[in-house]
Amino acid sequence: MQITYNLKSASERRSEAFEPKENVGFGELRTDHMFLMDFSDGQWHNPRVVPYAPFEVAPGAIALHYGQSVFEGAKAFRHNDEEIYTFRLDKNAERLNRSADILCMEGVPEVMQLAGIEALIDVDRLWFPLQEDACLYIRPFIFATEDRLSVSPSEQYTFCVILSPSGPYYNDGFSKAIRLLISKRFHRAVSGGTGASKASGNYAASLKAGKVAAEYGAAQVLYLDASNQQIEEVGAMNHFHILKDGTVIIPTFTDTILKSITSESILDLGELLGCEVRQETVWLDKFIQDIESGGIIEAGGFGTAAVVAPVGSYIFEDRRVLTVGDGAVGKHTKRIYQVLTDIQKGHISGPKNWLRKVTRLEG
Ligand SMILES: Cc1ncc(COP(=O)(O)O)c(C=O)c1O
Repeated sequence: MQITYNLKSASERRSEAFEPKENVGFGELRTDHMFLMDFSDGQWHNPRVVPYAPFEVAPGAIALHYGQSVFEGAKAFRHNDEEIYTFRLDKNAERLNRSADILCMEGVPEVMQLAGIEALIDVDRLWFPLQEDACLYIRPFIFATEDRLSVSPSEQYTFCVILSPSGPYYNDGFSKAIRLLISKRFHRAVSGGTGASKASGNYAASLKAGKVAAEYGAAQVLYLDASNQQIEEVGAMNHFHILKDGTVIIPTFTDTILKSITSESILDLGELLGCEVRQETVWLDKFIQDIESGGIIEAGGFGTAAVVAPVGSYIFEDRRVLTVGDGAVGKHTKRIYQVLTDIQKGHISGPKNWLRKVTRLEG
């Protein structure tokens, strides 16, 4: 793939290392450039790195009306050798195409996705924030651009990648457990729907539930299946719980659960974590009983942004509260967070090919 570079002039773009004094936050900043590529006449063409700027979209673009839009979220880390490494980006590229398929959209060949993202990171590498626990958050997305008001799959798309220099997700260290609202009123997905995709519309549909959760003093909703019997997901994370013997349980991936790359990594790491990690159907009633009896001692969410979000308590719609263990962040949860983030930062070595060095190519 021959990428064209139309870069900002030297005086307009970052020319020295980014050494922020304060936490730059998560997902707030942008870098100087973005990657773009278009699909029409049955093929992807014009891959290019261009200045980050608003782009033109036809008011009749299918993405704006019928929601053909999917995205990904990945991270890159700077190691002690001062090089930047992406974490399991091939899995994100694969999942973007799975999401696209679920929405009848055109996927982007994985090699093209990886080449585009690496070219962009290479160009904007000075934007990596030099602070503890920082990352470059990578947001690739595909949206339908065809200007047509009839409801059928678009024949034109744009693939875009933007980067967000991000600081530590946990400002005060990994110490605060959150509360989740167990809602029987809001559902994220139904079988046969789009729950296993990162479709933009899934997130629009979750906003109301998130707002209601906040009214209960909860950080997010614990989503159940449509029959309110099984535990599925936590807001934009997979759910997990930990048994008294340290076994980690993640709900089995179905077509109503997004296949989290963080969860998959924890499943792959099992041995290195020193505990069993497995998937099974998690029944709400049994889950509640096991928390009450002390059979479940820790719980939380897995996802790229937070990596691990410890859950200290659940609140029901009748405002009853269910506390997990002593409500604080447990030792198993801490260890999982530590091991995975240490691998990402290159402090300990993980499985082969999880980290990919961004080559210095800028032409
Ligand atoms: C609905 C949902 N579930 C789970 C996850 C966690 O997936 P990952 O670990 O790949 O970020 C995300 C975030 O991407 C999500 O949006």
